[in-house]
Amino acid sequence: MKLLALETSCDETAFAVLEDGEKVCANLVASQEELHRRFGGIVPELASRRHMELILPLAQETLKEAQVRLDEIEAVAVTNGPGLIGSLVIGVSFAKALSYARGIPLLAVDHINAHFLAAFLEEEKPSFPLVALVVSGGHTALFYVKDYLEFYLLGQTRDDAAGEAFDKVAKLLGLGYPGGRIISRLAEEGDPERIPLPRPLLNKDVFDFSFSGLKTAVVNFVNDLRRKGLPVPVHDLCASFEKAVVEVLVTKTLNALKFTGVKNLVVAGGVAANKRLRQTLREEAAKGGFRLFLPRPAYCTDNAAMVGVCGYHKWRRRAFADLELDVYARSHFPRYQG
Ligand code: KG4
Ligand code: ZN
Repeated sequence: MKLLALETSCDETAFAVLEDGEKVCANLVASQEELHRRFGGIVPELASRRHMELILPLAQETLKEAQVRLDEIEAVAVTNGPGLIGSLVIGVSFAKALSYARGIPLLAVDHINAHFLAAFLEEEKPSFPLVALVVSGGHTALFYVKDYLEFYLLGQTRDDAAGEAFDKVAKLLGLGYPGGRIISRLAEEGDPERIPLPRPLLNKDVFDFSFSGLKTAVVNFVNDLRRKGLPVPVHDLCASFEKAVVEVLVTKTLNALKFTGVKNLVVAGGVAANKRLRQTLREEAAKGGFRLFLPRPAYCTDNAAMVGVCGYHKWRRRAFADLELDVYARSHFPRYQG
């Protein structure tokens, strides 16, 4: 069964062709990083316009690369939330038009659900139940996942997402956008112990996160040095900040595994591409008796292959959307009740 998947929830226009929900025939991402860089963040209006320009040529290129004809595509899966409304509308309208014109099922995919299902694109597949940490520019959340499409929220960020904190700190230091990758690179040459930074909400029974206090601590540290006319130790600051974020993410995740008694962990989303996070999780997995599933970095950052996995499982359950399908800015997941 061949499926076309697309993703336009933020600043990446992405298409993929999947066979039987796991074989990736093509997976293309057109990043808008260049466009938004000079603004130090995403400008929603510009993102929507760029999606408009890219969507048709990228769809054609993806089919070509997959060596699949449009009339071989049996369903179309699209992210309809959460994300930027203008961006989502472009993708969803495209998918609806395709579904209507070809008479094929339309599958609505939640972006966060798709992020953790990215783990099923890899050779070694996790089993259920699992704990999923989704950590990206827009989201930081822990889930108890019972099945592909059934999952419960353990905790989420009360303010900034982890990736957002990376991006804001990078902007403060004038390092560019998006900040995660840049900070991570500079951190490799810094001392992670040099600057003491807070680890917010580390209590054992709380699975919510908070990163805005950590970001503010960095802002105060930098402003203080600037006021005194002293140089900012950028590498050490990047390393100390990255270590603080990773420690919070890892500690909470380990607590969640213990609390639920689950033995499989999936970590996904853009920040899951972070080397220190991946390394620390691997060390913990080796010590801690749980199985770790980390999708390759290209499946961690926004892509359409992950949307295809989720769409495929909706297709199997005949959970089709209709042409009334709407978009949404935020997800509301049911809470884990034990
Ligand atoms: O999942 P994603 O591509 O888009 C959202 O759904 O948000 O995540 C993008 C986020 C950005 O905030 C970016 O700075 C962060 O992921 N990111 C990283 C790394 N690569 C991307 N953060 C830390 N370390 C990285 N290597
Ligand atoms: Zn994402």
